[in-house]
Amino acid sequence: MKGKSAYLCSRALTAVLRTAIAAGALFSCWTAAAQMDAAAPQPHGWSAAAVQARVPQSARLRKNPFEGNEREATAGEKLFEEHCTECHGQKAAGTRYGPSLLQEEVQQASPGTLFWILSNGVVRRGMPVWSKLPEPQRWQLVTFLQSLRAHSTKPAMERHD
Ligand code: HEC
Repeated sequence: MKGKSAYLCSRALTAVLRTAIAAGALFSCWTAAAQMDAAAPQPHGWSAAAVQARVPQSARLRKNPFEGNEREATAGEKLFEEHCTECHGQKAAGTRYGPSLLQEEVQQASPGTLFWILSNGVVRRGMPVWSKLPEPQRWQLVTFLQSLRAHSTKPAMERHD
């Protein structure tokens, strides 16, 4: 009888130990996953200033043939939904995969600057090259992005005179 209860006791102990080890393993997996998750949104190092600094002067000065044209902006919005929202989000407000394009630096950028960024990408940082889209479509996208300006920046100072 003594022998049997000692045996049962050691079985029970092994079971407890196993459970503890399994729980420990689960816990460390969980903390590792939590750490990965916490680290995920940060490591981009996106910088509109750095991206725009690469744009050659002649490219910055290019004029948008569709400047202020609402129909072209609407066409650009469709293209944006098709190609860009997965990273830049609905209404260009940004996701963890791409920055908001409503930010001041982007909204203040010249049409030529945005066109050049679209045409050349920032491939190392996850922004694809869009030169496969015909030039008029890239200008439509620029027109759409700049049509958001009205909604994103503060209204110009009003004069009261
Ligand atoms: C696979 C993800 C991805 C897709 C799809 C994508 N982008 Fe980007 N885009 C990025 C990332 C990431 C950056 C930031 C690059 C950096 O700051 O180094 C960026 C930057 C930009 C910038 C530069 C903003 C600035 O001045 O810093 C513009 C403009 C832009 N994207 C427009 C677009 C448009 C328009 C489309 C669709 C045709 C598009 N992107 C599709 C990931 C993406």
